Amino acid sequence: MTQSARRIFARIAGTGSYLPDKVLSNDDLAKTIDTSDEWIRTRTGIRERRVAADGQTTSDLAFEAGRRALEAAGVTASDVQLLIVGTTTPDLIFPSTACLVQHKLGANGCMAFDVNAACSGFMYALAIADQFIRAGNVRTALVIGAETLTRMLDWSDRGTCVLFGDGAGAVVLKADDETGIISTHMHADGAHKELLWNPVGVSAGFRPEQHNAGVRVLMSGNEVFKVAVKTLDAVVEEALAANDLPRSAIDWLIPHQANLRIIQATAKRLEMPMERVIVTVDRHGNTSSGSVPLALDEAVRSGKVQRGQLLLLEAFGGGFTWGSALLRY
Ligand code: ACO
Repeated sequence: MTQSARRIFARIAGTGSYLPDKVLSNDDLAKTIDTSDEWIRTRTGIRERRVAADGQTTSDLAFEAGRRALEAAGVTASDVQLLIVGTTTPDLIFPSTACLVQHKLGANGCMAFDVNAACSGFMYALAIADQFIRAGNVRTALVIGAETLTRMLDWSDRGTCVLFGDGAGAVVLKADDETGIISTHMHADGAHKELLWNPVGVSAGFRPEQHNAGVRVLMSGNEVFKVAVKTLDAVVEEALAANDLPRSAIDWLIPHQANLRIIQATAKRLEMPMERVIVTVDRHGNTSSGSVPLALDEAVRSGKVQRGQLLLLEAFGGGFTWGSALLRY
């Protein structure tokens, strides 16, 4: 047996996603705040977003996405040895959303935990699961990105409430001797927390009045925009350089869906036509950790992404956190 044949890789065996039923259009928002469909579309590319029903939680969304991914992969819940949920909107402070999802799926007994890396949560979770599989410790992992961001929006702040939506996506990773995930590169820089944050917390105290704010997202959109474009340029270059690949090698770019203009800037950097970029932000808004796996699942189920193709996934979010994953589907 050759050295390379003995190596273990994590391959995507199946994908799944879930969106709540309720659609909130730009025109709906324009009825309650000073905004317009035209402003939101031209600045962000967003036309509508989904909102979780009363009582519907992140773990409900994550469960549905996870169940569909397991079904697509042809594995049962009892096969899952590792379950990670990337989320910044957990149902509860504890137990973790992953533990709640594990029980709903009937995967009890496996390792289960959440990763909070804001919009990069799914990317971080994917990188962690990849390491467990490569190390030979886990053969089947369920990785989910799920959020109910609309639960922590200030619906009177037109600078943030128009941007976000609820949703979940999931992948099943299986150990394989053929490549799957080729590389992951994750980063964080905690120097600029106040550009994008939610200032309410446990240890900092539940004292929203201190910040003249409830549990809500605060963002300096324009500054975040500039950092996001620059950082995503660098992270996609990093992925290509680490694998000695030309830009033309990438079949599909599956980016974090925060803003169409940010996505277009990354595509331009990669010299990729928009036909090879998966875009869901128009219908989903920014679903944070849910965004990349939702876009991936849509691309797979629509038949765009085919087995054997090279995909570049990337995300940027609060923290700041950012990362990429290069994989052969
Ligand atoms: N409708 C109408 N006008 C608006 C709205 C709105 N919804 N929101 C802001 N405006 C106004 C502002 O008040 C401002 O008016 P002024 O010039 O009179 O002061 C004007 O529009 C321009 O505001 P900017 O903030 O400069 O607009 P910009 O072009 O930067 O677009 C946006 C704002 C869409 C938020 C953009 O900056 C952006 O997408 N930023 C990045 C978001 C992101 O990627 N976040 C990271 C992930 S999120 C996470 O991790 C949780």
